[in-house]
Amino acid sequence: MITTADLIGMRVLITGGLGFIGSNLAHRCVELGADVTVYDDLDPACGGNVANLAGVERHVRLIRADIRTREDVGAAVHGSDIVFNCAAYTSHAGSMKDPRKTDAVNVVAVLGLLDAIRAEDRPIRFVQLGTTTQLGSVHDSPATEDHPEFPLDVYSASKTAAEKYVLVHGTAFGIPVTAIRLSNVYGPRASIRTADLGFVNYFIGLALMGRDLTVYGDGSQVRTLTYVADVVDAIITAGLTPACEGQALFATATTTQTVRELAHAIVRQIGRGRVRSVPWPPERVAIEVGSAAISSDRIEQLTGWRATTTLHEGLARTSDYYRTRLDQYLSQG
Ligand SMILES: NC(=O)c1ccc[n+]([C@@H]2O[C@H](COP(=O)([O-])OP(=O)(O)OC[C@H]3O[C@@H](n4cnc5c(N)ncnc54)[C@H](O)[C@@H]3O)[C@@H](O)[C@H]2O)c1
Repeated sequence: MITTADLIGMRVLITGGLGFIGSNLAHRCVELGADVTVYDDLDPACGGNVANLAGVERHVRLIRADIRTREDVGAAVHGSDIVFNCAAYTSHAGSMKDPRKTDAVNVVAVLGLLDAIRAEDRPIRFVQLGTTTQLGSVHDSPATEDHPEFPLDVYSASKTAAEKYVLVHGTAFGIPVTAIRLSNVYGPRASIRTADLGFVNYFIGLALMGRDLTVYGDGSQVRTLTYVADVVDAIITAGLTPACEGQALFATATTTQTVRELAHAIVRQIGRGRVRSVPWPPERVAIEVGSAAISSDRIEQLTGWRATTTLHEGLARTSDYYRTRLDQYLSQG
């Protein structure tokens, strides 16, 4: 596993660092002694929030720019030792309405980041974030990294395309690259405005406001939830471990819950809200991957990482975080 010493003084660039995962990564990298730059355009369609850097703002250099802008990306990459690409157009539903934007941000801009790294005369590590929904419907459960990919929505397809480009840049050009595929990440600093950006944090926000948590259908679809601090440790560990170079690795928790179980667990934890079933919206049925169990054995074998936060602990820490900050996360920006 990583030690504090591994990141001391390392120049870390976090694209999408005002977003949910990127900002948690920024906090952890600062804690571990890295020299951190966050690069984000605060796209209102995504989950970014300036409040996410509260507490570390004096230790982080913030570049407000779009990853589609080559010159800005080139300048930011120039002074970096490792790039964590957490910037993306992250809505599954939104990607169906705007496939071209999804492609521009999630695929073409990743090629731009890789071009900028190639233009440097020293190795810069690159970590790409993907999603378990790249697989589409899981037919061999728990799915390993060898499971075929037949994504069901444009966002997931864009992540498959970007991941392949990233891995090619590893084999063909010798860039130390790693891809980490995540699943239903929850925890502090996520958007709670809409279910489009992750239903777990959205449910937590609804419960804190004493509102109904609406479960589609009978809520029997199984999900693998992973607490964000575990995810951040996986991203850093894999990004620094030579054995992970050239790999696409799942990093998820080992336990699963149905959406209905989860909704009830949140209501119990927070002591407010009510679970209510609603019919599946037609646009959701078409892109629903169904029940998915994922194996993270490979990353554990390579790095020793495994998710350690229980659902109970994760929900408690998340609801404590939002309880006093609801306003900041409902009026996002
Ligand atoms: N949250 C999850 O459950 C989950 C699951 C699987 C994969 N992922 C992946 O993890 C990564 C981070 O996701 P997140 O949940 O933190 O999302 P998020 O929406 O909270 O953060 C994304 C950030 O990227 C920024 N961004 C978007 N377009 C940009 C652009 N053109 N230029 C610069 N910045 C831009 C946004 O402003 C936002 O701050 C994404 O690649 C996502 O696909 C997340």
